[in-house]
Amino acid sequence: MIRLAILASGSGSNAEKIMEHFQGSSKAQVGLVGSNKADAFVLERAKKFGVPTFTFSRKEMDAGVLLAKLQEEKIDWVILAGFLLKIPDELIRAFSDHMVNIHPALLPKYGGKGMYGVHVHEAVKASGDTETGITIHLVNEHYDEGKIIFQAATPVTPEDTPDTIAQKVHALEHRYFPEVIESLLG
Ligand code: GRF
Repeated sequence: MIRLAILASGSGSNAEKIMEHFQGSSKAQVGLVGSNKADAFVLERAKKFGVPTFTFSRKEMDAGVLLAKLQEEKIDWVILAGFLLKIPDELIRAFSDHMVNIHPALLPKYGGKGMYGVHVHEAVKASGDTETGITIHLVNEHYDEGKIIFQAATPVTPEDTPDTIAQKVHALEHRYFPEVIESLLG
């Protein structure tokens, strides 16, 4: 059984879709949901699925506490689903080619520091671009620059607001992220 850990800082609607997808799977299971926010809603969602949770501070993560926990739980793949802290290099190296992130835009556009959540959708709106989308990529030492595994696009119309763009992007994330993770597991 392949063991996945999901790291998320917020609501965790993607985490929920992933837990749903692998529930009852004979191939992989979500063995842990980790968050740097003790009040993140993702932790409630994990409980609903009976998935153990783990919370940690940035300082603890940087000191290796999260890595130790992932190793103790025999985690094979780390899934970043709205996780907002920069992952320490040691952790990235430990899960080299086994850590995947979802970014709510078509990288390399709208990536890099500060480009998360509503900031991304505001930048898309301000640009006048006629499409946006999602990017699922492996994680390396630089924000949003790992190997791209999958992208999907959705149109942006002049009537769209950052909010409606976010809704379209979320719909793509929910539709594709779980199955792209499954295809990565081999
Ligand atoms: C998603 O849009 C994801 O791409 C981004 O953070 C958001 C998380 O949403 N990195 P949720 O917590 O899964 O609802």
